[in-house]
Amino acid sequence: MKKLIGPFAQILPLTGLPLKGALKDEQLQIIPQGGVLVEDGLIQAVGDFEKLRSANPSVQIEEITGSHILLPGFVDCHTHICFAGSRAKDYALRTAGKTYLEIAKAGGGIWDSVTQTRAADEAVLTDLLLKRVQRHLAEGVTTIEVKSGYGLSIEGESKQLKAIKAAADKTHANLVATCLAAHMLPKDFDGTHQEYLNHILQNLLPAIKQQRLANRVDIFIEESAFNASDALNYLSKAKQMGFEVTVHADQFTTGGSEVAIKARAVSADHLEASTDYEINMLAKSDTVAVTLPGASLGLGMSYAPARKLLDAGACLAIASDWNPGSAPMGDLLMQAAVMGAAEKLCAAEVFAGLTFRAASALKLNDRGILAKGKLADMQAYPCDDYREILYQQGKLKPDKVWVSGIKN
Ligand code: NIG
Ligand code: FE
Repeated sequence: MKKLIGPFAQILPLTGLPLKGALKDEQLQIIPQGGVLVEDGLIQAVGDFEKLRSANPSVQIEEITGSHILLPGFVDCHTHICFAGSRAKDYALRTAGKTYLEIAKAGGGIWDSVTQTRAADEAVLTDLLLKRVQRHLAEGVTTIEVKSGYGLSIEGESKQLKAIKAAADKTHANLVATCLAAHMLPKDFDGTHQEYLNHILQNLLPAIKQQRLANRVDIFIEESAFNASDALNYLSKAKQMGFEVTVHADQFTTGGSEVAIKARAVSADHLEASTDYEINMLAKSDTVAVTLPGASLGLGMSYAPARKLLDAGACLAIASDWNPGSAPMGDLLMQAAVMGAAEKLCAAEVFAGLTFRAASALKLNDRGILAKGKLADMQAYPCDDYREILYQQGKLKPDKVWVSGIKN
């Protein structure tokens, strides 16, 4: 069925912008008094509302009352929201002065969430995940990547990926699953890091492929997790099996983003520790640089060098990293706005990082801009100037969100 949605005070279609490099707000196309013509979940046309109405005289109108700004739905290309339990204890220890790595070494950290997630059954895990998904969707996030990584055994990881699939069937939001069995060496695995990765390659990834539970594989490269050479070997083999690969890179120490580029990963995520060497390498590559301001806020650490990455020419995405440990808040817009203020990113760069550039990190080219043929995944903010959205630093939320043209 065809319908015309509008009028909107301004539509920002985010079209005509390059995939990589710095942007200026003057490059933003702004359609005043705009409308969107939607048919079968796809955008047919974006333009002046009255012109679209006269060109389609019998079309059904979904009328928007009051001033609204329309943007593409956000794409959160990095989350860990399939978990049970809380790590409020870790947070209290951190604010009392302990570091993330010290807490991990003392038995807190990721392993604590593994224990709590392993103890939850699949239905409970699905419900917990679904609640977080629905909150994100209500806040304009229409596509959400979700990682496993709190199972760290064949059964535990499979349960998480099945919960992600079950949640995907119960929400209008689009979920993209990623296998992060290589989050850390599980404490109950009897063997080396390399042996664990081989165990995953042999006994988990083929089953995931066969059951279509995920087509992406992630690894955490860090002193507390996996080293560069083991990771490169793991990622190359996962790629040979047909998985897209992505890396938790340069969070505390460097080395990860270089592996990501060598492995032709779709993205290198975190990058808080990246230096000019990594920045230039990322800028020259096709690997998307994903910044995670929520982790910087949660850990009380510096942001990734977003400004430098853009100026060097990288494709920069912004994701929430929503997880029980380093990034418990999960408010993507708030995090992007606050990092934007600190890193001096203009609105065009922030919105691009939350939409089509983030979609490219998931290899999804059917969304992230409002243009003919793209999914009608959209969100409307009750204000009359797009600059209000980042100015209010995340407190102004969309009051209408559409997925494939259907309002939630
Ligand atoms: O992206 N850095 C590794 N993994 C997550 C944190 C997971 C956790 O602490 O539970 C991250 O920040
Ligand atoms: Fe993460």
